[in-house]
Amino acid sequence: MKRSIVMATALTVTWSLPAAAQTKDANAEFEKFRAEMEESNPAELFELKGEELWKAKRGPKNVSLAESCDLGQGIGKVEGAWVKMPRYFADADAVMDGERRIVWCMTEKQGFKFADIAKKPFQGANDNNAPDITNLVTYVASASKNMKFDMPLHDDKVRDAYETGKAMAAYRAGPYDFSCNTCHGADGKRIRMQNLPNLSSPEGALRGVQGWPGYRMTGGVMLTSQWRMNDCFRQQRFPEPKYASQAVTNLIAYMTGNANGQMYKGPGIKR
Ligand code: HEC
Repeated sequence: MKRSIVMATALTVTWSLPAAAQTKDANAEFEKFRAEMEESNPAELFELKGEELWKAKRGPKNVSLAESCDLGQGIGKVEGAWVKMPRYFADADAVMDGERRIVWCMTEKQGFKFADIAKKPFQGANDNNAPDITNLVTYVASASKNMKFDMPLHDDKVRDAYETGKAMAAYRAGPYDFSCNTCHGADGKRIRMQNLPNLSSPEGALRGVQGWPGYRMTGGVMLTSQWRMNDCFRQQRFPEPKYASQAVTNLIAYMTGNANGQMYKGPGIKR
């Protein structure tokens, strides 16, 4: 199949990047490389697995997500769902981001145990495969490729989540008295080689939500926004949030709200 040949090539190119990335022009080089890679992002492999998982009858209840899971656009519909979350789901009486909603469907509709999913929700550097939930998220996200972020901020409950996320981003605590905004609250901040997006600006917020789920070349792993948030809590020297928690949804709502109206390009690719 042509697609897999393209991807195999992309993967080979990928491995040689990190060494070169140490140079001064790494950022510019990487941006160019990423633009070239976008058409054959290895994320596609995970999307394909996710699509199979979405359609397969699974779990103790032996039902598929395609025939049971409503991401806000009707049962089984994935097109455009990603860019319209976080949203309020009456059946769960909660505002949920995409990953949290898929986890909810897996537990409520398919009968999986939350504790089993939460045991290892992210791909580790030595894992050959990403967890099912990561593949599912990548598939659902890819079905919003080239659509504009359109989180329903006019909904009071979503607005609440957004405002709570905004307050969380400004909340300073921990041994260094850091908040998210210490690192992400102004333009032009950097740590080591990395430009830190200003999440309060439309451009910075877009970068924050565009990147994840994303294929990370370091380690060759597919990671979600939930992972990104956990890793930043760690950078902030805060205790990591519980998997698929409301706190993470609130932060994602804050970023997605700020990114609203801009085009989502599909699963990201990161260094
Ligand atoms: C100590 C500094 C620090 C703090 C505090 C911090 N982050 Fe980060 N954040 C980083 C670094 C470093 C990266 C990686 C940047 C890269 O890979 O280019 C990052 C990346 C991100 C990204 C992905 C950006 C991208 O380009 O893909 C998001 C979104 C994000 N952080 C959100 C948050 C949120 C929300 C908080 C608060 C809970 C937070 N961060 C707290 C340092 C921090």
